Amino acid sequence: MTSPAPRPNAPQGIAEIAADPYFRAVLENTVVRDWAFERWLTTVRGDFIDLAQGDEPRAGGDVTAFGAALARQCWINEYVFAESAPERAAIDQLKRRVADALASGAPVAPIAVAVLAMYEPLGALDGADKLTQRQWPSAVEEVVTQQVREPAEEAALRAALPRLTPIADGVSEQVRAQYEENPYPRWVRLSAPPPPMVLDDLIRHQFPTTPFRPLGKRDTHDILVAGCGTGRIALEITQSFAGARTLAIDLSLASLSAAKRKTPVALKDKIEFAQADIMSIGSIGRDFDYINAGGVLHHMGDPLAGWRELIKLMRPNALMQIGLYSAHAREEINEARKLVAARGYPATADGIRQARQDLFARRQHFNFMTLRDFFTTSEVRDLIFHVHEQQFTIPEIRDFIDGNGLSFIGFEFANQALHQQHRAEFQRRGWSLTDLARWDAYERDNPDIFANMYVFWVQKR
Ligand SMILES: C[S@@+](CC[C@H](N)C(=O)[O-])C[C@H]1O[C@@H](n2cnc3c(N)ncnc32)[C@H](O)[C@@H]1O
Repeated sequence: MTSPAPRPNAPQGIAEIAADPYFRAVLENTVVRDWAFERWLTTVRGDFIDLAQGDEPRAGGDVTAFGAALARQCWINEYVFAESAPERAAIDQLKRRVADALASGAPVAPIAVAVLAMYEPLGALDGADKLTQRQWPSAVEEVVTQQVREPAEEAALRAALPRLTPIADGVSEQVRAQYEENPYPRWVRLSAPPPPMVLDDLIRHQFPTTPFRPLGKRDTHDILVAGCGTGRIALEITQSFAGARTLAIDLSLASLSAAKRKTPVALKDKIEFAQADIMSIGSIGRDFDYINAGGVLHHMGDPLAGWRELIKLMRPNALMQIGLYSAHAREEINEARKLVAARGYPATADGIRQARQDLFARRQHFNFMTLRDFFTTSEVRDLIFHVHEQQFTIPEIRDFIDGNGLSFIGFEFANQALHQQHRAEFQRRGWSLTDLARWDAYERDNPDIFANMYVFWVQKR
């Protein structure tokens, strides 16, 4: 979006945008990951405040529905948009008016609810449950469901989650606290289920030149997703593999309860969610064909001890897919982390909003701001505010693999085109795709190839 776009108070054009169901669907179902679009939406959000002022605020059906869609976007991105002091003052006032009206039984305009929900979760409002007892236009009803009913459902699920191990490690406690506040990632929809896959076939297809011992499992796959967060990857894996039976564990009960609530009925019998610390997971008395640990081990006090715990749960020939931060690829992110530390931004919604704007002003220095992880609060916290992270080099990974009974199967890249491109380059140079010394040299020559994290497969020897 490059030219000045219409705004809600500028009647010309907004009705057309507000009435566009596809535009609203984008706001409701995906995170907007584009700075120009974000800035336009931020301005539009500010204009909406005027529509909610006065004793009897009114807005047409389409404008209210558009406002509700924007509120859902703001919830999905966890209120990451910049907010000015006058906007905050107006919203605090609106919040008091709506809370008073709910308490006294006075009418509340749907547009007032939508505008409030654009700035903070409706669940934070005094008497929020009363919102669920009133009648709203369907778009606003959806916002009340998203921000009041669904969080209440998650709170109810939390108490019943099984706890498989204690959380005894100090770093795990700190990391857990972060993800209790900001479960990761925020997501809305699963991708459509593919036809059921067999892990042996997937590996052969992805890494056709790598020597690999087939698991021989075609009808069932026992899977562990370690550090499953809010469950998106665990659910997509479960719906992808033939006869999947998945255990998905995490430290954070907020993440696990979100994952459980969002589990489609068709997957409910195929996946269990439980709280556990990877540091103690070796003692749970179960074993698996496939373990996924993406973006997790590098947040542990002793990542290699955690990795060893996971290896204890691998059956013979089992496969593990790991995501580990690359020290080379994160050099620029380390600069941003230093800036955040030097300026003392707190890891709160406000601190994160301010840090983002500050980084945006220096965008010419930071390519990583185009990374997908820069557009929701929990992702930014994960990326540049994390309480604990450790970074790795390929030689460190190679030494661990060699010393712990694993064989390296191959790296994965952000998409198939890149995967093919790097594979072709290795073939052209006559290098083996499992030669980690070559990969180390190749990464030094091309420091961006791993987009912040190594993602790779290993097999138990
Ligand atoms: C960046 S998120 C990744 C979530 C998920 N794997 C994904 O890629 O979408 C890291 C997750 O690992 C979990 N985690 C970190 N340390 C852990 C530990 N010691 N045991 C279990 N889970 C852990 C965190 O609670 C958090 O939900």
